[in-house]
Amino acid sequence: MQRKVWFVGAGPGDPDLITIKGLSLLKKADVLIYAGSLVNPVLIARSEARIKLDSWGMDLEELVLAMESAVNAGKMVVRLHSGDPSLYGAIVEQIDELEKRGIAVDIVPGVSSLFAAAAALGTQLTLRGVSESLIVTRPAGKTLDHDQIRELSGHGATMVIFLGAEKLGEITKKLLCPPDTPAAVIYHASWPDQKIVRGTVGDIAKKATDNGIERTALLVVGGVLDPQKRGHTRSYLYS
Ligand SMILES: C[S@@+](CC[C@H](N)C(=O)[O-])C[C@H]1O[C@@H](n2cnc3c(N)ncnc32)[C@H](O)[C@@H]1O
Repeated sequence: MQRKVWFVGAGPGDPDLITIKGLSLLKKADVLIYAGSLVNPVLIARSEARIKLDSWGMDLEELVLAMESAVNAGKMVVRLHSGDPSLYGAIVEQIDELEKRGIAVDIVPGVSSLFAAAAALGTQLTLRGVSESLIVTRPAGKTLDHDQIRELSGHGATMVIFLGAEKLGEITKKLLCPPDTPAAVIYHASWPDQKIVRGTVGDIAKKATDNGIERTALLVVGGVLDPQKRGHTRSYLYS
């Protein structure tokens, strides 16, 4: 049997937003290693894995050792990441270490919180006449020295900013777009306690704080949040 670890996207929170393939692997796993508070416990409970490990607080060496030992013991290992593993998932460093040990990796994509947020907002992220481009980024912080928010905000593209719920004021001050540009903060998109706060670049940080949002949220900025007023034109798709 090939020595392998499955990296699976858990989706944004709603346990039904995992793919069919992801759920089937999760159910069959002997060992499940999941990304702490960002994965819904209801989903973890759907797995019959005998060993379920929360990776919160584990360092890379511990994580890789846990996966390697289980693979060497002939177990089927699933590493569950929140949303889609390709966004802020730090999977490449895990894959590199596993490959050094002769362990292959297969990745099953997931629904990113970015798409759950767009669904909650009832809009498109790209919209004819408003924005044809999407910028996905994050602010500087404990794990990143410098960000590119200021430079990126000059393009008029829709922006989705991860990992910034506790510094919305700092982020919005960097944005080069006009203060009346529509903005929204989505906390826990697709979870039962999801919250949406709408405003503008000028007031969204205060509004989000007034609504008690301090973590696990996305900041979305751009005319797609207010398409009628921002020049949206009919697409050619249904013309
Ligand atoms: C380490 S990143 C993981 C992102 C994940 N890979 C994805 O595709 O959604 C964690 C950040 O994603 C965002 N996030 C994750 N789940 C979220 C959700 N359900 N609603 C809003 N933001 C979420 C927050 O900005 C959070 O700080």
